[in-house]
Amino acid sequence: MKLSKIILAALFSLLALFLMSCNDTQTEETQTTEAETTISEETSKETTDETTEETTEETTEGEMETINFSEYVDFVVSVPEDREAVILQLTDTQIIDSSQARTPDRLGGLLPDHWGADKKNERCYDFLRDIITNTSPDLILITGDIIYGEFDDSGNSLLEFVEFMESFGIPWAPVFGNHDNESKMGADWQSAQFENAENCLFLQRTLTGNGNYSVGIEQGGKLTRVFFMLDSNGIASASDESLANGHTQREAGFGRDQIKWFISGIKDIKKNFSDTKISLAFHIPLSVFNEAFEQYTEGSHGPVFIDYDENKKDGDFGYIGFTYPGFDTDKSVWKDIKRFGVDSIFVGHEHANSASIVYEGIRLQYGMKSSGYDSINYVSPEGNIEHTVYSTTIPWVGGSVFNLDSEGNIVNPHIYYCENGGASIDWDAIYGVN
Ligand SMILES: [Fe+2]
Repeated sequence: MKLSKIILAALFSLLALFLMSCNDTQTEETQTTEAETTISEETSKETTDETTEETTEETTEGEMETINFSEYVDFVVSVPEDREAVILQLTDTQIIDSSQARTPDRLGGLLPDHWGADKKNERCYDFLRDIITNTSPDLILITGDIIYGEFDDSGNSLLEFVEFMESFGIPWAPVFGNHDNESKMGADWQSAQFENAENCLFLQRTLTGNGNYSVGIEQGGKLTRVFFMLDSNGIASASDESLANGHTQREAGFGRDQIKWFISGIKDIKKNFSDTKISLAFHIPLSVFNEAFEQYTEGSHGPVFIDYDENKKDGDFGYIGFTYPGFDTDKSVWKDIKRFGVDSIFVGHEHANSASIVYEGIRLQYGMKSSGYDSINYVSPEGNIEHTVYSTTIPWVGGSVFNLDSEGNIVNPHIYYCENGGASIDWDAIYGVN
């Protein structure tokens, strides 16, 4: 992460930290949604390399050939043939438990109460429950900063999050952000919680970072799309306990071994299943995001609400609060991504951005911030978008959703706004759209 970005991000965070205040109560509850999706039984974490998700395909001679997709991906999610697959991207829940703050004044005077351990439902889980139950996804991607590690040295917040996600019975695939590994519980322990959770798709591996793995979508006997889930690293404040494993990286960006791994995986899939679509999901944006979104921000970095921008292109949507430079400034990773046929990249990290556009043939998507923790966008009842909280504003929170058709093509990408957030505002009326 560049110093300028760190400073800007810190300023934003500090601004929000000092201006946010309110209080509420917590009620622990979980619920499930009906999910027809199935995970290959043998995609359990301890036997991932021996998965046996199989399907059959008629050969030219009319015989049935068995295809074992698990030879090509770490996990297989099977979706019924009679409907489109639904993929939900959650990001940057960044749960804070002020009772675990390492330094007493880290959050400012008012915020220890605002982000107390008893506020997690109101700040996070009520939003997630709303998003998940109303979108009924087959697979949930979580693009990092699940917990704010420096406020979770006990590991309790992570354990609660895992328990909450497991309650839905839906496959969920998390990656690490630049804050998770700050916890003194360490990346190995955190990874083990993911790997041991029944519905969580996660493999730590010993590649650079923690959590590099692939998830395939199987539908109608075809491997329609594969998501490569990657750790984009950048944990400047990684705990000694995380660094101890030798592959937790402070600098943002991929290690060469990671790049080699996912390119090899993509080539293998494309060689065997040429029609399979490929996505990457990780936390910190590539620098090309900044470049791509300039077509809307015109060099100003934002803000721009693409939905109501006069230059809006079909398929582009969402809000850009402020764009920052990312990693891969020489665009070497970007060139590989284009060369090997990746068609979409899903990231988080930028709490004020939720936009999704197609640039040079590839969908670049900032996930919608999915909790009320840390620096985020707020909206007033009149639809004013703020970066600070006042008594009349509400967190602008939700999830990014898209469907996959039977060929794995992305269909109807959009943002689900939480009902007590952006969804309660008549944006069309505010922007003068009839
Ligand atoms: Fe982040």
